[in-house]
Amino acid sequence: MQIISCVDYADMSRKAARIIAAQVQLKPHSALGLATGSTPIGTYKELIRFHLNEELDFSKVITVNLDEYYGLSPEHEQSYRYFMQHNFFDHINISPENTHVPDGLTRDVAKTCAEYDSIVASLGGTDIQLLGIGDNGHIAFNEPHTYFFAQTHLVDLNEETIKANARFFESEVEVPRQAITMGMRSILSAKRILLLASGSKKAEAIAQMINGPIDPQLPASILQVHPNVMVIADEEALALA
Ligand code: GLP
Repeated sequence: MQIISCVDYADMSRKAARIIAAQVQLKPHSALGLATGSTPIGTYKELIRFHLNEELDFSKVITVNLDEYYGLSPEHEQSYRYFMQHNFFDHINISPENTHVPDGLTRDVAKTCAEYDSIVASLGGTDIQLLGIGDNGHIAFNEPHTYFFAQTHLVDLNEETIKANARFFESEVEVPRQAITMGMRSILSAKRILLLASGSKKAEAIAQMINGPIDPQLPASILQVHPNVMVIADEEALALA
């Protein structure tokens, strides 16, 4: 794993955005694996700035998001589809049909998951997979005790994650209890992985991910087996590493 230490959130966001922008410039039809959460918002803002000020062109880019809450419609303000539209897609020249987020309202979960895996497979894996990390070391919605070789599947969110994500909802009872998430197998099929982390709440998980054993208890630890992982994190998140 390559560790890039940043002074703060803004520095982390700029560094991540520059790498993604370079990828898109070198290969205009890049496949980008994208993430939600508060961590990548600054990166998306930088990329929007590159698009508006430097004509970074997303017209041929294909995106595949990691996950979606099960039961939320694309119009729900806390759905990940809404998040992506609002924080990124609506501000760049990407073709709507090139953006993929799992369907949170599907009635046929198995079919939806299989179709999602086919999209990722048809791309030969994403060129860059952007990741955040949960306080408990989860990646996408692959919770502790995850099966490392799972593909896209429906998961029950654990209490810690429900509590952590409650800040985005009016109350904790409104947080969906399930989500559709890409599994670790699909995530590891990316050619390059950029994991972002900011703030002291992530320090324990980051230290274990880098220095601890590969253990399903800390899902991010499986990234140690991937040949091309860059951890872009601020000093607070790297404090225990
Ligand atoms: C959610 C998402 C993850 C994200 C995590 C951390 O659980 N499913 O993809 O990494 O939150 O979010 P934040 O960046 O807000 O700390």
